Amino acid sequence: MQAYIDQTADFVRQRLANAEAGHDWWHILRVWKNVRTLLKQEKADRITCELAALLHDIADSKFHNGDETLGPTLAGEFLNSIGVPENLVRHVQDIIFHMSYKASLGVVSFRSKELEIVQDADRLDAIGAIGIARAFHYGGFKNRQLYDPAIVPDLHQDRETYKNSTAPTINHFYEKLLLLKDRMNTDTAKRIAAERHAFMERYLEQFFREWEGN
Ligand code: ADP
Ligand code: NI
Repeated sequence: MQAYIDQTADFVRQRLANAEAGHDWWHILRVWKNVRTLLKQEKADRITCELAALLHDIADSKFHNGDETLGPTLAGEFLNSIGVPENLVRHVQDIIFHMSYKASLGVVSFRSKELEIVQDADRLDAIGAIGIARAFHYGGFKNRQLYDPAIVPDLHQDRETYKNSTAPTINHFYEKLLLLKDRMNTDTAKRIAAERHAFMERYLEQFFREWEGN
């Protein structure tokens, strides 16, 4: 079983060699580590969680014309090619498909403890110090402003809207990042999220103080 994980890590590391920094191999590595942290407290199948964490971003739909099935399909092809048992492959595919923020906003058609853990691990990487870095990186990549007091956050955005919006990066905190702590599935992730959330709030307070010149 460990061999499956090692081979999958090698595959993903190579596949994401030239990925953009928000979803590069380092993001995968952090999510993988988050999964292992959560598994110290949460009971679930370790192999399933680790394989899904490794494979969850190999074909992000926003880089593939919104195709949400390509990721699970490619993950399945890879896992089959290294001989992973069929039921395990299917579970990993279900996790990847249902993990995206967008899918999670729709009708819930699949749940498992393993999905909850991997989804939490991914969401934890969007908040706290890393989350702040990723947001400003994304904003810079899209040439967004840091902040504009005249442009108020739109609190009812879905993923497609905020990805394509031209709003300043600070708005993204109110439109998504500060909402994530209440979307965690597991108690362990809720505890970690509370700390990372508090750090973002302190960051924003300081940001606005400095914006006003003191
Ligand atoms: P995920 O892969 O978790 O669904 P996304 O693909 O939506 O996340 O976003 C990847 C990273 O880019 C996240 O850290 C997210 O906060 C950040 N990001 C997405 N949209 C914006 C935005 N409009 N402004 C700033 N950061 C953004
Ligand atoms: Ni991710």
